Amino acid sequence: MDIPKSLLSGADQQNVVIFEMPKADDVDECYLNGKLIGSTGRMPTDPSGYFCGVDIVRNYPVDAKKGGIRWDAENVVAVRVYNRGGSGGLFWRPLTVRCPNAAEGLAMQLTEDNNGQSSCEVEISTAYASATNGTFTATLTDRETGAKLTSLTKRLSIKRGKPARVSVPYDKHKMCLLTATYTDAKTGKVLSESKQMKYILTPAAPATPRFNNAPLYGVRPGSPIIYRFPVSGEKPMKFTYNNLPEGLQLSESDGALSGKIDKPCVLTFTVTAENARGKASQDFTLKVGENMIGLTPPMGWNSWNCFGLSVSQEKVMSSAQALIDKGLADFGYGYINIDDGWEAPERNPDGTIEANEKFPSMKGMIDWLHERGLKFGIYSSPGETSCGGYLGSLDHERQDAEVWNKWGVDYLKYDWCSYERVREKDNDWGFASCVRPYLLMQKFVRQQPRDIFYSLGPLGGTQVYLWGIYCDGNSWRTAQDIDDTWKSILDVGFRQQAGLARYSSVGHWNDPDMLVVGKVGWGANLRETRLTPDEQYTHITLWTLLASNMLIGCDIAQMDEFTLNLLCNNEVNAVNQDILGKQADRDRKEGNIEVWSRPLSDGAIAVGIFNVGDKDLQVDMESLIPSWEPARTVRDLWRQKDMSADELRCTIPAHGCRYLKVF
Ligand code: GLA
Repeated sequence: MDIPKSLLSGADQQNVVIFEMPKADDVDECYLNGKLIGSTGRMPTDPSGYFCGVDIVRNYPVDAKKGGIRWDAENVVAVRVYNRGGSGGLFWRPLTVRCPNAAEGLAMQLTEDNNGQSSCEVEISTAYASATNGTFTATLTDRETGAKLTSLTKRLSIKRGKPARVSVPYDKHKMCLLTATYTDAKTGKVLSESKQMKYILTPAAPATPRFNNAPLYGVRPGSPIIYRFPVSGEKPMKFTYNNLPEGLQLSESDGALSGKIDKPCVLTFTVTAENARGKASQDFTLKVGENMIGLTPPMGWNSWNCFGLSVSQEKVMSSAQALIDKGLADFGYGYINIDDGWEAPERNPDGTIEANEKFPSMKGMIDWLHERGLKFGIYSSPGETSCGGYLGSLDHERQDAEVWNKWGVDYLKYDWCSYERVREKDNDWGFASCVRPYLLMQKFVRQQPRDIFYSLGPLGGTQVYLWGIYCDGNSWRTAQDIDDTWKSILDVGFRQQAGLARYSSVGHWNDPDMLVVGKVGWGANLRETRLTPDEQYTHITLWTLLASNMLIGCDIAQMDEFTLNLLCNNEVNAVNQDILGKQADRDRKEGNIEVWSRPLSDGAIAVGIFNVGDKDLQVDMESLIPSWEPARTVRDLWRQKDMSADELRCTIPAHGCRYLKVF
């Protein structure tokens, strides 16, 4: 294409030219006369892992002097496109080249700091050399009452490299909406952003000790017991016991239970936790038997949604330490699981597998976790390679299970991916060819003298929930990979889970994938989840109702007060961990209102009332609660408060929910 020099005359911004590109399906690299000018998404070869950029607008700025533009001559724009699925190629608009005005380079960014004093930091920056002046206004509205809480106006001047910053304090216990607006004085260009502020609904846990677990745990005869009593309250805390069965030990300082029981039996004993403020006791049942793994859904952390293939021993240990330091272990999060990316490039000459250089001592790391009463999970695939292209277990199933036992692995996520190639080679597309590799691994995993929670992968479209139980799967994925968008929660959570409750049972759970709250990123660069606070409450509400695996997917070391509060509501988590083990299903769908409920072991029901639409809705919850009778007590689980009859008529915000326990 020819680019005429005349483009610059008259433009108020003469040092930059914008190449407005079409969108690319899925990742692009754009070159001008052989020089890279922009790229969107990440190619699979990127060290941070693949990231699909299909829907992102591509405006690539090029320096007018040094950017390699051949003025009044022919220029070549070449685009390299990587397509993972769909039709590939370029679409949406043709390429145009133009000069922007100064105000076009303006951008506004809202970042919340939710620790301690909450505030939203608004930054207005410009990408271009000319300075701009304008007026900034910020308004905070209470979303529940509609009341205007704060309004401020400021005149700002913005230069490249010198963004303007305004801090807007807000009350984290209110549901606030911040609207920030900047109007450029010269062009009248308006930047405006509205954002829900993070809000904390759950009261802080008391300083006195409180047990936050189901009073039940299962183990197979002879397997080592690794269990940490999750008790919140002021530290230090001292753990003591009554009638502790022979063969078991309880650590006085952190409530880590260890030891083993050789024969099938049911044991009961009492554990007491005491601190400077008081004490609490729990009558605890230990079931020892063959089919006792995962009597409640596993709670913990997995590296995939945050670190992707960049996971390392250092990151795992810092996450585990943060799990303890931030108190998540006191709420039952007990598994520390690594996902793909730990495997060495090649097997040893004897066929055994090693970890790669990012894990200098797998055994040392696992021992360190076990000493703290935390369990460890690993990842593999039945094919030759894993989904991330690392070594898989094909033809080495026994050896891998034995190595994992030696290391002390307590959880195996067994994925799928390259096993398709085996099916292709055998030209065998029946169900049996899916089940076979899972049965094979089950045999070796169960032969190990330790309990390994067996979690099966999603196997694109093959409905693992129909047969996962026959492979003694402790859980199986019921959807493809989740991401941190509302579209994904709607699809993976609401659409794909409806009707599946009948396939879940104690020890054999449906798994709609890992959590996407907090800082995620699937690689080396983490970002705040793209879910709004309302959507995050909905996500955790639905997942606990679904008796899903509760594997935190964010970097725990960077977890803020909001995310911590969301994950550490003992009444909400008690629904997930309820020992009746009856997963919720969808009872009703009326327009955009969905009602999901499940019976609980104490005779109550847990009910989630969701607004999956894009507009706030007024609801009368009495008419939506299954088998409603006015004499019943309704508890708001997020606020941990019984509700009055009046409060049952309420507004549920778009993508938001109410989480009730009805007695
Ligand atoms: C698949 C799984 C993910 C993750 C990656 C690792 O996509 O569904 O959860 O384990 O593989 O490569």
